[in-house]
Amino acid sequence: MKHIVSALLGSVRQYKKDSFLAPLFVGLEVVMECLLPLLMADVIDSMSGASMTPIVKDAVALLILALLSLLFGTMSGVTAATASTGFAKNLRQDLFFKVQDFAFLDIDRFSASSLVTRLTTDVTNVQNAYGIILRIAVRTPLMMIFAVAMSLTQSVRMSMIFIVMIPVALLALFGIIFKAMPIFRRIFRKYDALNNSVQENVSGIRVVKAFVREDHEIEKFHAASEDVRKDFTAAEKLIAMNFPTLSFFVYVAMMLISFFGALIIVNTKGSEFSTGELSALITYGMQILMSVMMLSMIFVMITMAAESAKRIVEVLDHEGSLESPENGITEVKDGSIVFDHVNFRYSNHGNEVLDDIELTIPSGKTVGIIGATGSSKSTFIQLIPRLYDVTGGKLLVGGTDVRDYDLKTLRDSVAVVLQKNVLFHGTIRDNMRWGKKDATDEEIIRVCRLAQADEFVQQFPDGYDTMIDRGGTNVSGGQKQRLCIARALLKHPKILILDDSTSAVDTRTDALIRKAFREEIPETTKIIIAQRTSSVEDADMIIVMDDGRIVERGTHEELMNRGGIYREIYDSQNSGSIGEEVM
Ligand SMILES: Nc1ncnc2c1ncn2[C@@H]1O[C@H](COP(=O)(O)OP(=O)(O)O)[C@@H](O)[C@H]1O
Ligand SMILES: [Mg+2]
Repeated sequence: MKHIVSALLGSVRQYKKDSFLAPLFVGLEVVMECLLPLLMADVIDSMSGASMTPIVKDAVALLILALLSLLFGTMSGVTAATASTGFAKNLRQDLFFKVQDFAFLDIDRFSASSLVTRLTTDVTNVQNAYGIILRIAVRTPLMMIFAVAMSLTQSVRMSMIFIVMIPVALLALFGIIFKAMPIFRRIFRKYDALNNSVQENVSGIRVVKAFVREDHEIEKFHAASEDVRKDFTAAEKLIAMNFPTLSFFVYVAMMLISFFGALIIVNTKGSEFSTGELSALITYGMQILMSVMMLSMIFVMITMAAESAKRIVEVLDHEGSLESPENGITEVKDGSIVFDHVNFRYSNHGNEVLDDIELTIPSGKTVGIIGATGSSKSTFIQLIPRLYDVTGGKLLVGGTDVRDYDLKTLRDSVAVVLQKNVLFHGTIRDNMRWGKKDATDEEIIRVCRLAQADEFVQQFPDGYDTMIDRGGTNVSGGQKQRLCIARALLKHPKILILDDSTSAVDTRTDALIRKAFREEIPETTKIIIAQRTSSVEDADMIIVMDDGRIVERGTHEELMNRGGIYREIYDSQNSGSIGEEVM
């Protein structure tokens, strides 16, 4: 817990001043509020006198105190809001930076949607709790102490009534809360599930609609949301008991104070305390019991926020599983790749996804990879830019173990067009520059020509200034793939990897892209994962993967003559149109 608090407080930074001022103003507000009943008592007692002068004097003082109380209250509200929203902004930023440093493995571990929830809902919970701690958590105990002290100055005997009532009320209220807390905790976990389901569905809405699964999804969502409602109702019902319970204690206290107060006034003829002072005592009683209720509410808020805090600190504390080495090598000599008995598994208890891979690719060659889905093709190529680390053996790029390179250097030299690649919201030009910040227009046009994208981009009314919608939904699948290839080329990589990146491109254009690669970037090592044998048949080497192993390797001719899996795939794709002409 101590660690969680100190980890979070690291994000307060420039809002320290406001975080300090807010409780200070609250303290001043409490002082004013505790002085007010004293003046009121004076006003009441002066009523029986003949002159209006003391009443007017007291009224003016009362007004000033009330105004001051208003002023301090406002100031505390403003500073607490500044502090808590600023703190949340910093916290979100810190989390965001942290996540940027995460390796794929770390993202897998948390899941992307859980990270989103942590950056949004959880931060908001902590922000609210921080605002409350700054104000109410200071206000309440202070108010209790002041009010008890002030009533003690009025009458010790009467104060005993509150002093006895405070622990009794506390016990009752906290009894209710301790029953409600476990339910709240459970709600939080269910909320997570609900958020995940919303995120998954909204981002996959096109698929849901295409499969006409709206009803099914609505039903699923309804069940999850009903589940949360039930628990919420149960918890809120319990919490709702707090107010009536408190009211009961307030009335009992009022009754006791009035009864014993009246008794004392009558018996002592007002020598111990006056009617006005009795009214002040009643106000203090109210303030004290209200504080008790506030205290119990704060407790609820803080415990709930603690769950969120824990989840946030989990992310902040997480050591990225893949670090750039200190003084890493900052130059990749060439585009050669050596897999030296490489093994890989995604998690410690998972099975081997890559099994003893042995492969040497000389710089500048083109390698085609063919294999069924799930045969670990994507996994295989993700090791090269170190998106994941090998779990056995060694992987050399340019003759050096990838783990010895400065990570940025390595990833700048190895451009990957991932299978699930994305374009970002912005113009086509912005998206290209995302691959290389200072790319000139000529460079952008050159790579787009290479990737066979220039032609269709020029046909857009806005050309390179065409806006790409969020998620790249306003370009076709094939156009998106070509733009992603162009973006990767802009880095002038030593190694270019295309993971099924021309699947939505027609065969003719696909062939044109490969022709351009051959002619324009002959020194770059090219690795092409494809479904169609036509996409790889002109490669220097083709490897066939099956179940995490390389089962066949050779040129198109060699593999065709061998009559193995490759031949089988080729035949199945070319039956009917034998010898399909590809340029
Ligand atoms: N992020 C991941 N976490 C755990 N397992 C994964 C992950 N990505 C892929 N896998 C598993 O690794 C195996 C190979 O997947 P992948 O490399 O994507 O195959 P391919 O690209 O050939 O279709 C599959 O069994 C898949 O379920
Ligand atoms: Mg794949």
